[in-house]
Amino acid sequence: MADEIKVGLLLPYSGVYAALGGEIEAGFNLGLATFGAQTDDTFVVVTEDTEVKPPVGLAKAKKLALQDKADVIVGVVSSGVLGALRDFVDGAGVPLIVANAGNDAATGEDCSPFITRFSFSNSQVNRPMGQYLVDQGITKVFTMAPDYAAGHQQIGAFKAAFEAAGGEVVGQEFTPFQKTQDFGPYLANAKSSDAQAVYVFYAGGEAISYVKQYDSFGLKENLPLFGSGFLTSSLYVNAEGPAAEGVIASSYYVPTIDNPENAAFVEAYKAANNRLPSEFAVAGYDAAHALVLASANGASDRASLAKALSTSSFDGPRGATSIDPATNNIVQPIYVYETVSAADGSGMTQKVLASLAPEQDPVNGCTLAN
Ligand code: BEZ
Repeated sequence: MADEIKVGLLLPYSGVYAALGGEIEAGFNLGLATFGAQTDDTFVVVTEDTEVKPPVGLAKAKKLALQDKADVIVGVVSSGVLGALRDFVDGAGVPLIVANAGNDAATGEDCSPFITRFSFSNSQVNRPMGQYLVDQGITKVFTMAPDYAAGHQQIGAFKAAFEAAGGEVVGQEFTPFQKTQDFGPYLANAKSSDAQAVYVFYAGGEAISYVKQYDSFGLKENLPLFGSGFLTSSLYVNAEGPAAEGVIASSYYVPTIDNPENAAFVEAYKAANNRLPSEFAVAGYDAAHALVLASANGASDRASLAKALSTSSFDGPRGATSIDPATNNIVQPIYVYETVSAADGSGMTQKVLASLAPEQDPVNGCTLAN
């Protein structure tokens, strides 16, 4: 039997991203069960709640590493929490598998041999949408996002690519994170602008409120809604309902991707959880896959795990998935999808409009390759 590996699952189980945390954990557990058949007793899991608060996330990471003696930490949903943990995990030499938070700096100027990301970077998901919108004849856009690191980075990457392709951002709003309940005043500003479309990043509970209010404000018809795929995630698109119909977004995963690994994943996830998986579930699942592979190759202590994780490569539900050793960020295809009503009346589903080539971030100041 392989040496025991203690995993600290560090996720939000409360706050605006609580549902995302539960979903990543469900994906992680399925990944261990699927790939760890030979090593069932190898992984011992301890969970902690970040509450989506950077100081709480840091305190919990310290507890997992110093008190529980975790060999590896998996999780972190918010870019703000990831920013708060970065120096601690780097200094303590504890491998962190990022299973959501897209904070660009963590695999750019603040990269670390101990941080490996199996989810996405904020830039990676949004960059391709700049050219995509211009190709659809849309050259004037109004943007919105929550006012914290992920909101600024996701919109910043879209804006840079959109402007490089000839587009113009004619107005933008950053709404108070975790505090905005009424998007009305911001939507009114979008409506009175000369934009042809709105491009946003919202996730979790904020995404549900935003999509519903956008629809009830009557904007969808004249001002089509685009964004990064978290806006209409399969995790909560049925809570948005028909308000989400017609929204076009980019993501690294939707459950309708057509490949054999995804077919097996969707079936197993449905059987275990009685619902379709989302992009959050796949990040947990792939994190577990990579850990099992690292363990099967003999890694068990912090240093050997960090090294093995940074050379991961496999075909998974999202397609060919690998870690770029120059940044420790994932390289993966990006999908553009439209939310549509399922023909069988089962609710909302995702129609893939484009499968874009694997997206690799520039090194952005990371010196891992030097
Ligand atoms: C982030 O904070 O990086 C993030 C949170 C939820 C969805 C996507 C990104």
